[in-house]
Amino acid sequence: MEFKAVKLTDDVYWVGAVDWNIRDFHGYSTEKGTTYNAYLILADRVTLIDTVKAPFKQEMLTRIASVIDPGEISYIISNHAEMDHSGALPQVITELKPERVFASVMGVKALSEHYHLKTEITALKDGDELSLGNMKLKFFETRMLHWPDSMITYLGERNLLFSQDGFGMHLASGERFADQIEEPVLKWEAAKYYANILLPYSPLVLKLAERLSVLDIRPEIIAPDHGPVWRSNDNDKIIGWYQEWARQLPQLKVVIVYDTMWQSTDLMARAIADGVAEAGLSVKVMRLRATDRSDVMTEVLDAGAVIVGSPTLNNGMFPTVADFLTYMKGLKPKNKIGAAFGSYGWSGEATEMISTELKSMGIELPEVPLRVKYVPDQDALARCWEFGRRMAELVKERVEE
Ligand code: FEO
Repeated sequence: MEFKAVKLTDDVYWVGAVDWNIRDFHGYSTEKGTTYNAYLILADRVTLIDTVKAPFKQEMLTRIASVIDPGEISYIISNHAEMDHSGALPQVITELKPERVFASVMGVKALSEHYHLKTEITALKDGDELSLGNMKLKFFETRMLHWPDSMITYLGERNLLFSQDGFGMHLASGERFADQIEEPVLKWEAAKYYANILLPYSPLVLKLAERLSVLDIRPEIIAPDHGPVWRSNDNDKIIGWYQEWARQLPQLKVVIVYDTMWQSTDLMARAIADGVAEAGLSVKVMRLRATDRSDVMTEVLDAGAVIVGSPTLNNGMFPTVADFLTYMKGLKPKNKIGAAFGSYGWSGEATEMISTELKSMGIELPEVPLRVKYVPDQDALARCWEFGRRMAELVKERVEE
């Protein structure tokens, strides 16, 4: 058989799909592809947790068929209605005719409205339990992590948490477990996922962590809807990273994000970076036409400062810079300082526009915008260098407070 299930425990299997070639996931760059994870519980009532994106339905059904006749599935739980997890659901319901399909209260609405389903979906409330005969599932609503319908499912008998988008990453691989993948790859991809999907909901992440801790739920296995499954000590690793990212504590790091027309703003960016580095901070220089916005946000996640540069084009900022600021604003980064810089020929409005946008995000701007007319000379580059060094010193003061 071409697609096989992967055993998580004696009675729980991964039966998802690997999407090796997706490169854009609703505007988020996925250089390494992704997985859509679904899980099969071989309880008295055979249960499927989530499905996959619609074109991958057959891959999922074939994996299920490698351990059990798919027609034996009694229950389907939809933890999250987004189409990467529910796309195959209508067709799976039609083909397998499960006894019951469950989702959160908001999930029932979302699935019904999205797919115009004729099948009745049973609503589960926060804290509800569902008997599978020899095992029991418990459900926790996790609204806005990642959509209003989101919930997570806990299988107490196996101390296993089906965490839906949480703790996930876009990473296609032959390995199904995090402990088979190098840590720098895991950390970058998990951070990228957090920065681009979950960052705006960081206070909810902290509340959920607190809630699970009060309930003394410390899962041995965390099975997300994307990327590898976490088990043994790797659980502590991903939970620790989430706590760090959700607190949004600034680190000794500066991100310089910009675009350039005739390399003057680029020269400024590089001189500013040199000043930051001189102060001993980590610095990332990211030109927007060379770097995807979702990679920039991954670096912004733990940065103490974001310095944004743009030339002035037609009395405005460069379109890629406007795009990035709009994107970053929606992700609501906290606890950062910022600054604007850029070259201009005659009108020079871009830096003020950037400052206005950064302020509207609650980013404090300790420096006036740095503008250079046409091409920076040695004096101008020295001012850029000083600007970078001062910003770095300000980050140091805040981090060491
Ligand atoms: Fe992986 Fe919010 O869907």
